[in-house]
Amino acid sequence: MADRTITLRLDGTDGPPPDRTYAIHVGRGTLAETGKVLAATGCQRAVVLADAAVVTPHATAVMTSLTQAGLATDLLTVPSGEASKSLTEAGRLWEALAQLGIDRQTSLVAVGGGVIGDLGGFLAAGFARGIPCWQVPTTLVAQVDSAIGGKTGINLAAGKNLVGAFWQPQGVIADIDTLATLPTREFTSGLAEVVKYGMILDAEFFAWLEANTAAIVAREPAAIEHLVQRSAELKAFVVERDERELTGLRACLNYGHTFAHAFETATGYGTLLHGEAVSLGMVAAAQLAATLGRITAETVTRQHTLLEHLGLPVTTNTLAAVADDTLLAIMGRDKKTEHGQLRFVLPDCIGHVELVEGIDPAAVTAAIVGVRST
Ligand code: NAD
Ligand code: GLY
Repeated sequence: MADRTITLRLDGTDGPPPDRTYAIHVGRGTLAETGKVLAATGCQRAVVLADAAVVTPHATAVMTSLTQAGLATDLLTVPSGEASKSLTEAGRLWEALAQLGIDRQTSLVAVGGGVIGDLGGFLAAGFARGIPCWQVPTTLVAQVDSAIGGKTGINLAAGKNLVGAFWQPQGVIADIDTLATLPTREFTSGLAEVVKYGMILDAEFFAWLEANTAAIVAREPAAIEHLVQRSAELKAFVVERDERELTGLRACLNYGHTFAHAFETATGYGTLLHGEAVSLGMVAAAQLAATLGRITAETVTRQHTLLEHLGLPVTTNTLAAVADDTLLAIMGRDKKTEHGQLRFVLPDCIGHVELVEGIDPAAVTAAIVGVRST
């Protein structure tokens, strides 16, 4: 197995035990190793929770691997799409887990994208006051971001991810071969979070992305493997140091996201994929940083060019009917707003960002101008 293991250490030094350190296995063909990895922890029974769209071939491969390793295995499927991150679906699945008679020694194995990972983690956090959960991400978004770090949850009518729990997985098994079946638009959207890591934490990685856009767009396995491994390492670095988003470090993962959430909300969820909105959000955030004198025009251009070369949107006509005041009002309700002041994660160079407060709304509006197209 071409596998590189990254250790995410939560060993109690950041707070009370127990040790929540776990391995993130990134490689090719790692799905087939799922059974061995779980069996090595003493696990004897697993329930696979799978996105209905990936039962064949990915969840089936996981089931086969678990069975071959001697684990008793059940399968629960979930309809694809954000609507499954609901109280109704969580209730149905908790009842199904109870019907299967699972106990605290049974592991839940979430196979799918961020929807399944968030839902599965939340189900595991709540069932029997907590059962072990394994993340087996099959989208780029999930492999580089959502499967790592323990944020789980579901949506309410009042808002996305409003109910959830921090529930770290026992481990993450990211098989980059699963990305071969991912539609191009979903794959490209995931690249926005990858560019984000370069912008917020790692100038060298950003330069590597610039130098390898052709291989990335062509989904050359060696390039994708490196890109997922480095992103996972950077996410682990952040979560180890600020698991509960208390120091501001983890909040930096929201670079571009204040704008992005406003764009997604204003255009109606689903119009823009999340990564597409993040790409546009990073364009606006970089422009805002330049207006505030934090970065040069050259830095703005470098980010813009990389996003374009990766096939991500840098302008959109979806905001044509959306007024600036509407976007500002949505941003004012953002989780990062404090005492009514707009706060943004902004770069001061490629590879470093800061949380900036007290920004003039006029500057925010001006930063969106370049994102709008007719
Ligand atoms: P998703 O789970 O909806 O997957 C996107 C689409 O790809 C779906 O239609 C799915 O059926 C399909 N799919 C999944 N794997 C596939 C494969 N290998 N081949 C073909 N099709 C496949 O969406 P996503 O983009 O993976 O994740 C978005 C979700 O993740 C959102 O709910 C978001 O809130 C959440 N999220 C959570 C975190 C976190 O830290 N917990 C971070 C980022 C995003
Ligand atoms: N995706 C943002 C976070 O995990 O904090």
